[in-house]
Parts: sequence; C-alpha cells; structure tokens
Amino acid sequence: MGEFVVRGGRRLEGTLKVHGAKNAALPIMAASVLASGPVELKDVPKLRDVDVMIQVLQSLGASVKWSGPSLIIDPSDIHQYVIPEELMMKMRASIFVIGPLLAKLGHAVAIQPGGCSIGDRPIDIHIYGFSQLGAKVAETDQGTRLDGPRLRAGTVHLSYPSVGATENLMMAAALIPGETRIRNAAMEPEIVDLAQFLEKMGAVVRGAGTPDIRVIGKTELKGTSHTVIPDRIEAATYMLATAATAGHVMLENCIIEHLPGLTGRLRDLGVELTEREGDRVEVQAPNAYPTTPVSLHTGPYPGFATDMQAQFMAFLLKVPGVHIISERVFENRLGHARELRRMGAQIMADQRIALIYGGRPLHPSTVRALDLRAGAALVIAGLMTEGETVISDRDVIERGYQDLDLQLAELGADITGR
Ligand code: UD1
Repeated sequence: MGEFVVRGGRRLEGTLKVHGAKNAALPIMAASVLASGPVELKDVPKLRDVDVMIQVLQSLGASVKWSGPSLIIDPSDIHQYVIPEELMMKMRASIFVIGPLLAKLGHAVAIQPGGCSIGDRPIDIHIYGFSQLGAKVAETDQGTRLDGPRLRAGTVHLSYPSVGATENLMMAAALIPGETRIRNAAMEPEIVDLAQFLEKMGAVVRGAGTPDIRVIGKTELKGTSHTVIPDRIEAATYMLATAATAGHVMLENCIIEHLPGLTGRLRDLGVELTEREGDRVEVQAPNAYPTTPVSLHTGPYPGFATDMQAQFMAFLLKVPGVHIISERVFENRLGHARELRRMGAQIMADQRIALIYGGRPLHPSTVRALDLRAGAALVIAGLMTEGETVISDRDVIERGYQDLDLQLAELGADITGR
C-alpha cells in the first residue's frame, strides 16, 4: 500500500545512476539453481520481486544471502521441486525456476499463474517447449507437474517470441547434454545477459540476441560471479521524466543501444541524447515541443518495449498533436489511460489502442497505480502537473523501481512517499 505525493512543475536536473535490471536479475537468480556451487550476483536491484525470488529459492532448499552489495546463492541443497502456491501468486516470474528444476532434479510442479492486471499471460509456450525436450506434463492437485528425468536436446520452435519461455528453455537446455535449438526466440538484452551467465557456468550459447539460439548443455554447471546489466526500463522511465519536465539529466549505467525504439522517437521530437564515456547518457530536453503527431506500436525487441508504453503515453501528453499508441504484446495494458484521464488528460482508449490529445495542461488528482509501469507513468504525469498529485498503491510501483522517490528528489523533484 502507501502512496506517492508529487508536486509537479519542476525541471529534473542532475545525475542519476540506473540500477541493475530486474528482468535480467530474476531469470539469472533462477538459473543459479543449475550450478553445483555458490553463485555471486552483483547489481541485483533491491526490489520486492527480487525478495519474492529469494523466497522461492529458499523454499526449494537454496541458501541465499546478501553480502554487502552482492547476492550469494548456494543451490547445493536444492531437493524440493514444488514451487509454493503463495509465491507463485505473488509473482509470475516465479515460473522461471521450473526450467532449471526440471533439468536438475527431473521434476517441477507449479500452479499456472492466473490472469493479472495486464492480461491473461498463460505459460503454454513454456510447457510446449519442455514437452519438445521430452518432459511429460500432467495436471495434479498441486498444479502443473513436469517430469523429465531423461530430457533430450532438440529443436523447439516457439509460436511467439516469449521472453520468459525463451529464458526458461535456455536454462533447462544448459543442463541437457547436446545441442538444443530455440527458433523464433525472443531477442531482448536480458536474454543476452542470461546467455552470458550460462556461459560463465560452463554451457555454450550461440545466437543469443537473434531469433535462433543454440545451447550446448553440460552434465554439470559450476558456480560463478556475474554483474547484471543496467535496467533499460528504469533508464527509459527517467529519460521520459526528464523529457516531460524540460529537464537536463546525466544517466549513469545506461546502455543506449538497449533503447532502440525510444531514442529515435525522442530525438525526432528534439530531445538531445548524447552518449558520454563509461555508459553515460546526457538527456537535454527542450522547453517546449512542436506540434508533432506520434504513432507507435509495441512489439518484441527490438520493437518498442511494452514496459515503456505507459510512461511514453504520459510523456506524449506534453507534446502537442493527436497521437496513437497500439499495444500489441499484452491484450489489456492501457488501463493507465483511465487514471490519466482523472488528471484531465484527453485520451480515448479501448483494450489495445489509445488516441492521445497532447499539449493540454493536466490538473492534479488522486490516481491509482494499476501495475508498476502504469504507476511510473502516473509519477511522470504528476511531475508535469502544477499542484499535488497523489498516487496510491505505491508498493506496486516499488516492485520495479528501487528508491524512485529518493532518485527523483535528488534531481530536484518534489516527491514524497508515505
Ligand atoms: C517479460 C517481462 C515483462 C515484459 C514482457 C514483454 C520479465 C520478468 N518480465 O514477461 O516485464 O512486459 O517480457 O516484454 O522478464 N504468452 C503466451 N504464452 C506463454 C508465454 C507468453 O501466450 O507461454 C504471451 C503473453 O500473454 C503476452 C506475450 O506472450 O501476451 C508476451 O509474453 P512474454 O514475452 O512471455 O512476457 P514475460 O516473459 O511474461
């Protein structure tokens, strides 16, 4: 629960360091299950979703502890293969451990995660992939049960480039001797980071970052040390908050190549993005935007990330013109349009398409964070708005943003959490 109170109208100025990527850290933590000895992970963000993954690993028998800034995972004692239902309910990404468990112990059981605020999100592609590698699938009282004491390497063609399914299959394949090929694989930077981690453990991974990934698995994988890549969604959020407030911010630990859909659009609108040495990006926004209609649709990487769509919509309210956003990854991820309307935004939206009338002033209101990115969008809208915007369900936002209020306050924003 809790809320953020934002008094907008200030420019963001200063320097901010982007944290490690949540969406890279979660699968890599799950992949640690595969190791025969301890794994050290650096730059894991301190977030609620990471805490849930720690609980998942502990429930399976792993020892997990923070050692200063590093997370140490020792999977030597993992013998449990049933993911507790309450953890699965808390976080869908708990599903990442089924691939590693299946490959390591020959079994995995999980309830199918139900619908969530942004759509149904089934796991049929994950399950199909494991069955192609020889796993038997059964529905039991405890949930979906996968048995595969003798998995075999093979080729899996995904019907959609699901990020989670690609990662789950890569992890299982790393412990299956022989070459497993994943066709129509997802290409997100987090997939490449996971591939590098699996390689450090001793597997061979070719083609990560392309739609055709080949994993040559080993019978044993060793513990290792790894630093998680920077969070491109967090970087995008601060970039958009800067662009929405005529700000000037230096983002540290930001890899601009990971933001292909966003940077081109911001530059077209007159935002200066300058790469500086050492993974730093300087963001200099203009005082006002010319009338420019913007049209975008979300898609798998390198398309425009669905996780940046809500924040981009809030930013577009600053740009005069009629804009169109089409959400093509999830079937119901435009709920923030309704909350933005409470602030006076002129947006028409159904479940997939939104028409946004930008360049008109907003007024403060009390709004609700429906999911974490929708919540970040409301924070951006609050920063753009004179007066006091109250955003409830702060804990939802904090699933994905570490120290959001402190980071923005450092840049001169008037924001408090309570
Ligand atoms: C990951 C990210 C999430 C991001 C999403 C898309 C993590 C922890 N989460 O989620 O932040 O929004 O990628 O970039 O990395 N689908 C199926 N069947 C499946 C799997 C997926 O139909 O078995 C559908 C989903 O319902 C959705 C689409 O495919 O409509 C994309 O899902 P997917 O790429 O799997 O996203 P996640 O891995 O869940």
